[in-house]
Amino acid sequence: MTALGASLDEKSELTDAVFRRVARLAKENWGLNLEDGKRPLVTARLWKRVIASGAGDFPSYIGKVEDGDQVECDHFISALTTNVTHFFREQHHFDLLESSILPRFRGRGPLRIWSAGCSSGQEPYSIAASVRAVLGASADARILATDVDPDILERAQKAVYTNSETSFPNPALEARVFDKKHEEQQRAVRANLVDLITFRRLNLIQPWPISGRFDVIFCRNVAIYFDKPTQANLWAQFAAHLNPNGFLFIGHSERIETPEAIGLCPAGITTYQKQ
Ligand SMILES: C[S@@+](CC[C@H](N)C(=O)[O-])C[C@H]1O[C@@H](n2cnc3c(N)ncnc32)[C@H](O)[C@@H]1O
Repeated sequence: MTALGASLDEKSELTDAVFRRVARLAKENWGLNLEDGKRPLVTARLWKRVIASGAGDFPSYIGKVEDGDQVECDHFISALTTNVTHFFREQHHFDLLESSILPRFRGRGPLRIWSAGCSSGQEPYSIAASVRAVLGASADARILATDVDPDILERAQKAVYTNSETSFPNPALEARVFDKKHEEQQRAVRANLVDLITFRRLNLIQPWPISGRFDVIFCRNVAIYFDKPTQANLWAQFAAHLNPNGFLFIGHSERIETPEAIGLCPAGITTYQKQ
């Protein structure tokens, strides 16, 4: 190996000590639980920022994030989040929403729904499609969609997807969200769905600038990246932000250990209702 090659390898290696700094930052600021098995992935994702930021090596780069450099903090969290999502993911939640929850709001409102950890927007646009399907054009409904990752939130707000990002459980659901399959690469979400949604940046493990309560909260496949105490605290906060009889949907591999302790009762697959 050349001398240059050796020095590059050293610079691009995330040592035990520096990985611990990364993990501490991710946990304390964003709740993310980075176990050692994630080190290769974290190394690959953050190395791009080491280069782009001009820091030159991992310790200097992490120092910028530790010092609170806002630009690098934003890139850091974008690099570490997992944003996988689909339209009508875990379709049973949408079935319950349409059969049992939304009909209660016919002719009455306002209905407030929160998609927390909305990623690139497929979840809130699917919720909006369900709201339009059940409550129609005059629905008195608002959907708040939040995420901590500024890049993914910007993509969500654009409401434009490539054909490869638009897989659906069936063509009928697809037709609710998009006019028709375009020949072009870009497809825009129907305007009457976009109209229902407000996007905001929000870090779930910092105090929430949210007033009022919700009738339905979706927080799916987000808490899975947090440790157990952080998850428990999150579930309790969601419970406190639900209206009486409101519903909380969580991800397929997530669990609320003692829902009754926070005023919730099980109401279906990974679904809880406020008592
Ligand atoms: C795997 S996606 C889930 C998207 C969607 N809820 C679904 O189930 O398809 C997880 C999302 O959680 C967001 N996230 C991670 N940590 C967060 C935090 N501390 N506050 C808010 N959002 C967070 C990520 O940015 C990412 O977009």
